[in-house]
Order: sequence, then structure tokens, then C-alpha cells
Amino acid sequence: MQVFRVHGGAVQEAVRLSGEVRVPGAKNSVLKLMAAALLAEGTTVLRDVPQIADVGVMGDLLRRLGCEATLTDGQVAIVTPPRPDTHAPYELVRRFRASINVLGPLVARCGEARVALPGGDNIGVRALDMHIAGLERMGAVVSTEHGYLVATASALQGASIWLDFPSVGATENLLMAAVLAKGTTVIENAAREPEIVDLCALLIAMGAHIGGAGSSELVIDGVDVLRAVEHTVVPDRIVAGTWAIGAVLTQGDVLVRNGVPDHLEIALDKLATAGAHVEGTDGGFRVSMEHRPRAVDVVTLPYPGFPTDLQPMVLALAAVSDGVAMVTENVFEARFVFARELARLGAGVRTDGHHAVIRGRPRLSGAPVRSSDIRAGAALVLAGLVADGVTDVSEIHHIDRGYVGFERDLIALGARVERIELPDDLA
Ligand code: UD1
Repeated sequence: MQVFRVHGGAVQEAVRLSGEVRVPGAKNSVLKLMAAALLAEGTTVLRDVPQIADVGVMGDLLRRLGCEATLTDGQVAIVTPPRPDTHAPYELVRRFRASINVLGPLVARCGEARVALPGGDNIGVRALDMHIAGLERMGAVVSTEHGYLVATASALQGASIWLDFPSVGATENLLMAAVLAKGTTVIENAAREPEIVDLCALLIAMGAHIGGAGSSELVIDGVDVLRAVEHTVVPDRIVAGTWAIGAVLTQGDVLVRNGVPDHLEIALDKLATAGAHVEGTDGGFRVSMEHRPRAVDVVTLPYPGFPTDLQPMVLALAAVSDGVAMVTENVFEARFVFARELARLGAGVRTDGHHAVIRGRPRLSGAPVRSSDIRAGAALVLAGLVADGVTDVSEIHHIDRGYVGFERDLIALGARVERIELPDDLA
């Protein structure tokens, strides 16, 4: 099994993250953009695609659906046939949650879809009720059979849909269904994430009629046909935020190239409250920290609130901050499993329901720890940088799902991190 071996000492030995790092296109956008390619016959080209494991798996899934998918040099080309296959099998879908995003495009384009119920991160039960209810409002008949969602519709009809919660995945699926439905669909309480705006930009370039991108009301006038186009993926704000928090945690100085500060407004504001210096630059932003951070409270919320995907990194930051911080998780109930691993590194953290209270300590203490999901894994590596001695982070396949060359970038910023093979019983 592979682990990241992190050599700590970032604060005392003045090995601080410093230098430049470039953020690639967003994982949470590219997977949906790839699914959107199913909506139009012909060749869709996506640029600035991160070379992460999930992109490869989405490519495999699209091939299984009859497309050609070629990944080269930060670019993916998808050739969609006149009529894609509609069966998304369990062995591919179980590997990542975003596979559910083929549901909307397949029903819209082919009138049917049979998609296995997905897997993905271990961050709680991730229901699909809003995806299903929305498709039903549009006239689809949806059932669950032997671990598969089966949806059929002779022709989807525009509808008024109110989401109970601004779910990212449900907004995307329903948007991709609505662009080819007959008539007008209004999605109220829609998610507003930059990745949704990116999906709207691709769909509009393909010929879709969408109003309200980036607001909580999306109005979609269905069209008969869409055309395949080229598109550059929006930069990954969660990777950008990971580097920003890493800079503050290690009292370093990092220029995040291709990071969009407007997509991280609350997160960067929290870092400034912790004492960091944050400035926008031409094509990115820079974060530097000259002293131990002050403890800051954080509440996760749908965009534009503080992103749940940066919550583990913020817990790691609080673990070495001066003072007591309260972190409240409002999106994924089970995300605090990460706090147990952080406690193994000596963090003064207690959780109760969806709150965590962290008493900051000057340093953590290196130990073997395990990633439970992509972001928890990245946060443990960052925590290892401010821990005495060695921290071995196992289950790093999670980290590889979201970060391209994580250790390469860390090393370029001055960290001592190695990817090593350990026998399974030691990892
Ligand atoms: C996406 C991101 C994930 C991020 C999350 C919230 C991808 C691949 N993943 O996940 O990194 O943390 O947005 O920003 O883009 N829910 C329901 N019923 C539904 C749909 C969702 O109850 O029909 C619940 C979920 O269980 C969860 C919450 O709503 O508690 C948020 O889920 P959602 O916004 O849909 O997140 P994902 O699209 O799964």
C-alpha cells in the first residue's frame, strides 16, 4: 500500500511552504462537463483538465456508454455517438459519486437511463431524493431496481422545481435534463457554486437557453438539439483553498497561480482574520503568514458560504492556532470522522453532533493516520507538516482522486514528503 511520509518540523525548522503553485481545472466541474458531452452528438473538447483518477474513470464510463474519450496533456476529447448506450454499470459507477451526473443527460437525450447507485467518499449518506423528485416533476418515471436507478421518459417536460436544499449534484442533473426538455423549467433554491456557473457556460455555448446562472433561480428554455463545443474548465477553488490554508498553517508564503479569489471570498477572509496577508495578483492570489495563526470560528454552508470541502483543512489549521475555535459542519454529517485522525496527531479536538471545538496547540505530534476521503487526506498531509517527527498518511488513493501530483507540488514549495510503498499490515 502507498502512503505519504511527511517529515514535520515546518514551524520550528522554518521549513515553510513558500513559492508558487498552479491550480488546474476543477475536479468538481470537469466530471459534470464530461457528462454534459452526452447531450450533443460530435466532439466535445475540454481544456485544463486535471489528470486525476476520477477523470480516467469518467472516461471509462463514457466509453462504456458508447463514446470515444481521449485524455492527453490536460485535455479531454469526447466523441458522442448519435445514440449513446444508456446502461451505466455498477463496477464503474461505484468508484465515484459524480457518475450519477450521467442520469440527467441520458434521460434527456435517449428517453431512458439505467444508472447504478453511486459510491464515492465516506462522508455520510448522500441521498438522491432531489435528483429523482426533479426528474419526476419533468415527467420521468423513476424506480430503484437491484441497486440501479431506472428512469424513462418519452419526452421530458419543463416544470417548476423547488429544491429542499441547494444540492450541487441535483442542480446539475436537473439542469442537464432541462436543456433538452419541452418548454420552460424553473429550478428554485438552485446551488450557486462556480462549478454550476461553469456547467451553465458550457451548456450555453452548446446552444442551451439558461438564465440566472450563479443565482438561486435557474430558468431553462428547452431546445431540440445541442452542438458539441470546446471549453476550458474553471480553476479548482478547493485545491486553491488547500494551498492557501497550507500557507497559513505553516506560516509560509504561497503564490496560487490560476486561483480565483472571488470563488473563495469567505475562506480568504477567514484566513485574513487569522492574521494572514492575502492579496490578489495578476492571474491568481498570494497568501503569507508571519506568526502563529489566531483561532477563527467557521460554519460550512452551500456557496457562497464556507466550503465543506475545506472544513478538514480548517480543522487542521485550528489545531495549531492560538485560542479556541468552533467549526460547524452543515453539509455532510459524517465529515467529522476526520477529527479522530487529527486527534491521533495530538490535536485538542472534540466533536458533538455537527460542531467541533478545537483548542489550538503550538505543535502536533507525528503518527500514522488514515485518509477517509479526498479532503481529509490532504488535510492530514498538511497537519503532518506542523507535527514533530514523521506522519505516515495511508489510503492516499483518496488524495489522488482530487489532487494532481500533490507531493510534487508540496516538495516544490519546500516540504519534505515522499510517496512510499509499505506492506499492507504496516500502512
Ligand atoms: C458536491 C461535491 C462535493 C461537495 C458538495 C457540497 C462533486 C463531485 N462533489 O457533492 O465535493 O462537498 O457538492 O459542496 O461535485 N442531498 C440530499 N438529497 C439529494 C442530494 C443531496 O439529501 O437528492 C444532501 C446530501 O446527502 C448532502 C447535501 O445534500 O448532505 C449536499 O449534497 P450535494 O450538494 O448534492 O453534494 P454533491 O453533489 O454530492
